[in-house]
Amino acid sequence: LYGEHRRNSQGCNLADSRVRRQFQQNLAELAYKQHQAVPLISGTAYTGRTQAIIAPYDRSEVVGEVVNSNPQAIVDALDAAASAFNDWRLYLVEQRAGCLFKAADLMEQQRMELVALSVREGGRTIKDALAEVREAVDFCRYYAVSALELFRYPINLPGPTGEENNLRYYGRGIFVCISPWNFPIAIFVGQVAAALAAGNTVIAKPAESTTLTAMACVRILHQAGIPESVLQFLPGKGSEIGSQLLQDSRIAGVAFTGSTATAHRINRELAGHPVIVPFVAETGGQNFMIADTSAHKEQLVQDVILSAFNSAGQRCSALRVLFLPEETADKIVELVVGAIQQLRIGNPGDYATDIGPVINRAALERLEQHVEHMRTHGNVIFQLPPFVDATGCYKGNYFSPTLIEINDLKYLQEEVFGPILHVIRYSSSNLDAVIDTVNATGYGLTLGIHSRIQSTINKIQQQVRVGNIYINRNMIGAVVGVQPFGGMGLSGTGPKAGGPDYLRRFAVEQTVTNNI
Ligand code: NAD
Ligand code: ALA
Repeated sequence: LYGEHRRNSQGCNLADSRVRRQFQQNLAELAYKQHQAVPLISGTAYTGRTQAIIAPYDRSEVVGEVVNSNPQAIVDALDAAASAFNDWRLYLVEQRAGCLFKAADLMEQQRMELVALSVREGGRTIKDALAEVREAVDFCRYYAVSALELFRYPINLPGPTGEENNLRYYGRGIFVCISPWNFPIAIFVGQVAAALAAGNTVIAKPAESTTLTAMACVRILHQAGIPESVLQFLPGKGSEIGSQLLQDSRIAGVAFTGSTATAHRINRELAGHPVIVPFVAETGGQNFMIADTSAHKEQLVQDVILSAFNSAGQRCSALRVLFLPEETADKIVELVVGAIQQLRIGNPGDYATDIGPVINRAALERLEQHVEHMRTHGNVIFQLPPFVDATGCYKGNYFSPTLIEINDLKYLQEEVFGPILHVIRYSSSNLDAVIDTVNATGYGLTLGIHSRIQSTINKIQQQVRVGNIYINRNMIGAVVGVQPFGGMGLSGTGPKAGGPDYLRRFAVEQTVTNNI
């Protein structure tokens, strides 16, 4: 019905050198712009003590400053969102969807600014940042179409003669949307767009490290016609503002994407509510790829490199552990090392860069500690030399892609969030044990299978408990409406982002039986 709107964003053709030149030129023009993010409540910008945001690739570069929300701002945001809900719930779904279609168009028009900001604040490479703008655009269009399809007309149900039965959907009330830094545009916009499309008012709490990018997205949504009273922006540290926000009895739902540990904390806060608060949590992963002896080696290696190292491994979907059969492991490891040597680590604003920095010094130190630990408890096979810039300086949070062989998962109880790939060898007669190992982690986000034997593919995909399975391809970059994304177990509650069931979780259902 709404097919003309259900199209994925086209992005732009980076293979065209003119497009690339234009991009670099625009990025250079935006390179020194200073940004500011503040609590934005019913259109009022709050002032206060500011905190500098530093570029992950150069600790001497200030990208802008943030004013964090104080307790009064939180109260004001809740009051404003509660009062705006009375009007917003009466908006026609066509009006809500119309704002999201407009927001999608504006994001495409302003993608240069969004990309520049995300490169500088989040250390995203140009290609990653562009893909993210595309995903955010897709989320806006997809949820707008979903809302039109689900909520425009009540569903008329059969019943006894003389009685009319209708099922209809409404927004729940105030939805709190809490997002991570690793997809500062796509996930931030996706959660907010879904909650708005379903008829909720929103309090958006961005990740600390990428608040400036999130604020730019909020401005676009307001510019697209989402009333300022309907979408509140509350920057701040989760550990400082989370409790006050989540304990307020007026909140009607929470959409969260981030670590499993934080999801547990939020769940405990919500347990104190008298009403059970819906909680959509998309969390971390411990993601595997299983290759067998029939795997096409060159294709496998290409997909391994992309899955493990793209976005400097800072994707929840990223490959962490590669299971290789003993017969072919040596050859594949050799090819993987060769491919890592071809990766270009460097400034994310350079078009040629494959691997940018990790988000901050704490993340860098965690990765360094893990590798040190594995020097004793595993076998560090290869690490690219440390990155230094053209002046011979080491100014950013750069961590070199690393390959480590291990025997078991003892030292991988938690997500290692960066460009580190672990390899485990297995005996081909022992595939069942590999599948058991995958399931025993309790996580269940992504899994890759590389095999040309259909019975092996069937066996693995039937037995593993993960949300997204990728067969004979890489395992990252789920496309909205094409690969609905999300995990199970420790990796998330569902429903899947960019899938047909997502919006329903943001709405209440009402059945009206009319004995006419
Ligand atoms: P995080 O859990 O540290 O933070 C996520 C968000 O929660 C941030 O906005 C943070 O401020 C907020 N927060 C922290 N403590 C809080 C509290 N007590 N109350 C309320 N909010 C609180 O995660 P991160 O480091 O920003 O992101 C990386 C993590 O996100 C990784 O584990 C990654 O796997 C996961 N992730 C999952 C998906 C998915 O779709 N499954 C997608 C992207 C990232
Ligand atoms: N949706 C993101 C991916 O698939 C996390 O990589």
